[in-house]
Amino acid sequence: MSQSNIIHLAADLSFLHTDYLWRMPGSWIGYDYYSTSEFYEDIARIAQRGVMDMLFFGDTGGTPEDYGGTYEAGVRYGAKWPRHDMAPMIPLMAKAASGVGFAITMSTTYHHPFYVARFFNALDHVTRGRIAWNAVTSAYKNEAANYGFDVMMDHDERYRRAQEFLEVACKLWDSVEKDAIVTDRERGIFADPAKVHRIDHRGRYFNVRGPLPALPSPQQRPVIIQAGLSGPGMDLAATYADMQFSTRRTVASMQQHRAALDAKLAQVGRKPRDVGILWSIRIQVAESDAAAKDKERQYLEWIRPEAGLVEMSAQYNVDFSKARPGMRLADFVDEVRAQKGNYGSFEELLKTTDPSQTVEEFGRRFLVDRILVAAGTPKAIVDKLEEMHVATGANGGFILGRGYSAMDNIREFVEFVVPELQRRGLSKRKYTGATLRENLS
Ligand SMILES: Cc1cc2nc3c(=O)[nH]c(=O)nc-3n(C[C@H](O)[C@H](O)[C@H](O)COP(=O)(O)O)c2cc1C
Repeated sequence: MSQSNIIHLAADLSFLHTDYLWRMPGSWIGYDYYSTSEFYEDIARIAQRGVMDMLFFGDTGGTPEDYGGTYEAGVRYGAKWPRHDMAPMIPLMAKAASGVGFAITMSTTYHHPFYVARFFNALDHVTRGRIAWNAVTSAYKNEAANYGFDVMMDHDERYRRAQEFLEVACKLWDSVEKDAIVTDRERGIFADPAKVHRIDHRGRYFNVRGPLPALPSPQQRPVIIQAGLSGPGMDLAATYADMQFSTRRTVASMQQHRAALDAKLAQVGRKPRDVGILWSIRIQVAESDAAAKDKERQYLEWIRPEAGLVEMSAQYNVDFSKARPGMRLADFVDEVRAQKGNYGSFEELLKTTDPSQTVEEFGRRFLVDRILVAAGTPKAIVDKLEEMHVATGANGGFILGRGYSAMDNIREFVEFVVPELQRRGLSKRKYTGATLRENLS
C-alpha cells in the first residue's frame, strides 16, 4: 500500500486516559471530563496540522482481573480501564479535521462479519473514505467472559475464524459494484440489480447470503490493519492487510519482522509494497538531550511502581502480583505461553531486554519500554526515525504509542518533530489524496 518512501505518521489514542497518563501535568487539562468529544476533536485538529495520516483506537471489551485475581488495582489506577466504544467519536473528529484518517478496532473473535462490514461501510461514507479497521483476534479472558465464553477460544482457532471473517467481509464490500447506483430520476431507476450480487457464503463459522444492503463507499473497503506477531497472525496480515501495526524494540528485530512479513506476502502472491508497517514508538522531545532525559525522569516518577505489573498481568493473562523477589521474566515463560494470548510480544521482551532484570524492575518500566523510544532534540529524534525507516525498507512509518500524554506530548510532536521531518522531505507537507488509502500510498 505504501508506494512512496515517505514516513507515514499516526498516533495511538487508545491509552490516553489510562496508564497513569491522566496524572500527567499536561493531560486532560481544560476539558470537562474523560471522554468529552471536544478533547478528541482538538487532537484531530493537531494531527491535521502535522499532516498525520491516522489516529488509531485499539480496543478490548474486558475489565482485567489478572493482577491479584481482581479488578481492584486496574480500576483504582486506571489500567486498561475504562474502555469506551470510540466509534461515535469518529464522525465528530472527521468533521473537525479533514485529511486525517481514523482506525477503529473490531474483534473478529466475537463479532459477526455482516455487522462489521456494514458498520465500516457506514463509517467510510460518513468520513468520506477516511476509515481503517484494526482487525484483531481477541486474546483476553475477561473480554471472552463478557461475550459468553467460560474458556477463551484457542489461539489458532481465533485466527482460522479471523481468516473466514475477513473473507466474508471483503466479499460483502465487493457485493455491490462501484457503478451500480444509477439514480435516474426521469426513469425512476435507483440502481442496477445486475451489479448487486449475493455472496452465498457457507463456511465453517459463518453463513452469509448477502449482498450488503449499502451503497459502495468511497474506499469500497476500509484500510485493513492487522497486528498479530505469530505465524497465523502474519498469515492473516499477508492475506488481507494494507497496513501492519508492530511493536518491535530494536532495529535488528524490526528487520527480521519485515523480512518475515515479506516472505509471507510472497507466499500469497503479494509484494512488500502491498503492506506497510507502522512501528510503535514513544517520542519525548525537548530543547536538549538533557532536558529530554529530565522529562523522561519526571514522567517515570508519575507512574506508580505496581502499575507496570498490573498492565503486564492484563496483557498476558498471568498474575504478576505473585512474582517473588528475584524472579525474572524467563521464570514466567511457561505460564505466559500456556495462556496462548500475546506470547509473541512476550517473546520479543525476552529477546530484547536485559535478562538479569527482575520482574519487579522490569514491571516498573513495562508501561514505557514495551516499544521503541526516541528521546532528545527534534534533530536527534528525526535522525533516529530516519535511520530506522531506511533500515526497514522505507515501507510504512511510525505510530506514536504508549507513554505519551495528550494534549502536550502529541502537540509537541507536531510542533517540533514534524517540521524537521518535513524539512528533510521525510514526511508530507500536505494531504495528497482524498481518502485514507490514497494518503497512505
Ligand atoms: C501492536 C498490536 C496491537 C494490538 N491491538 C489490539 C487491540 O486493540 N485489541 C485487541 O483485542 N488485541 C490487540 N492486539 C492483539 C492481537 O490481535 C492478537 O490477539 C495478539 O497479538 C495475539 O496474536 P499473535 O500471537 O499473532 O501475536 C494487538 C497486538 C499487537 C501486536
